[in-house]
Amino acid sequence: MRGTKRFRLARPIAAALGAVLLVGGLAACGNSDTGGDGGDDGKLVLGFSQVGAESGWRTANTTSVKEAAAAAGIELKFDDAQQKQENQIKAIRNFIQQKVDVIAFSPVVESGWDTVLKEARDADIPVILTDRAVDSADKTLYKTFLGSDFVKEGRLSGEWLIEDKKDATGDVNIVELQGTTGSAPANDRKKGFAEAIAADPKLKIVASQSGDFTRAGGKQVMEQFLKANPKIDVLFAHNDDMGLGALEAITAAGKVPGKDITIITIDAVRDGMQALADGKFNFIAECSPLLGPQLMDLAKKVHAGETVPPRIETEETTFTQEQAKEALPNRKY
Ligand code: AHR
Repeated sequence: MRGTKRFRLARPIAAALGAVLLVGGLAACGNSDTGGDGGDDGKLVLGFSQVGAESGWRTANTTSVKEAAAAAGIELKFDDAQQKQENQIKAIRNFIQQKVDVIAFSPVVESGWDTVLKEARDADIPVILTDRAVDSADKTLYKTFLGSDFVKEGRLSGEWLIEDKKDATGDVNIVELQGTTGSAPANDRKKGFAEAIAADPKLKIVASQSGDFTRAGGKQVMEQFLKANPKIDVLFAHNDDMGLGALEAITAAGKVPGKDITIITIDAVRDGMQALADGKFNFIAECSPLLGPQLMDLAKKVHAGETVPPRIETEETTFTQEQAKEALPNRKY
């Protein structure tokens, strides 16, 4: 009797135990799946750490990445770092802990990534740099870089200015709105522009400061520039958003943007192109945010162990006011 009772009790316990073991076993398989062979549903899992939402370019880039992931059947774990490197490092560590298949990120700044990239490498998770580069000497810390040639964007801006001011007499005073301090686009665009204008000694940068790639930053710094410099002939802004912010400061100072002050920016997002078509900007060097589809393709390749080129540059162009008028109706972002 006692024995029978014990037996009767033991069966449900055994059944429950069995269920626990089965579920545990499946979960264990699921975990090892996410650790290299896709999520629970077999999809490749991509951890993506985005810089933030500082500009129209960034918004377009985020949309491109999200749409491309959905179209490619990739499970995207998206993190917004709000322009802070420590948030990106935290996000990458989370991705490593979650055993995603591939990590991609657009580094807020160039320096200080070696430790966390080594952690990803030790965990056997391939890393793709997108949009912005890092200055790590060890190139084995990431598989590839996908993005723009920022030095070229700065150089094209400077070359256009040389041509535009070729007949000017006397000094041409330039103020420069730099992007986020320490970021690859700020460093490289500054370098490319400075190298190009060095060919004409009358072109002089009289002030240069960061506006952090935001409209608010562009407006605030331009106000300071206008107060401190009685004669500003040219504004070179490292992105459209800072240029758009600066427009407000220039107008408030009683000057006519695009006429009293020649304005050069980078990106060619819709609002920037509109300002160019309206004659408020004078020239834009394009920087394409539509990196999503190529990024997904690369994620699949590095996950499959395929060799990919170490650097893949996006194709870009430049726009004058007339070209902006033509391009605007078909502009996607
Ligand atoms: O890294 C690309 C740059 O970042 C874009 O030019 C700028 O608009 C953005 O914030």
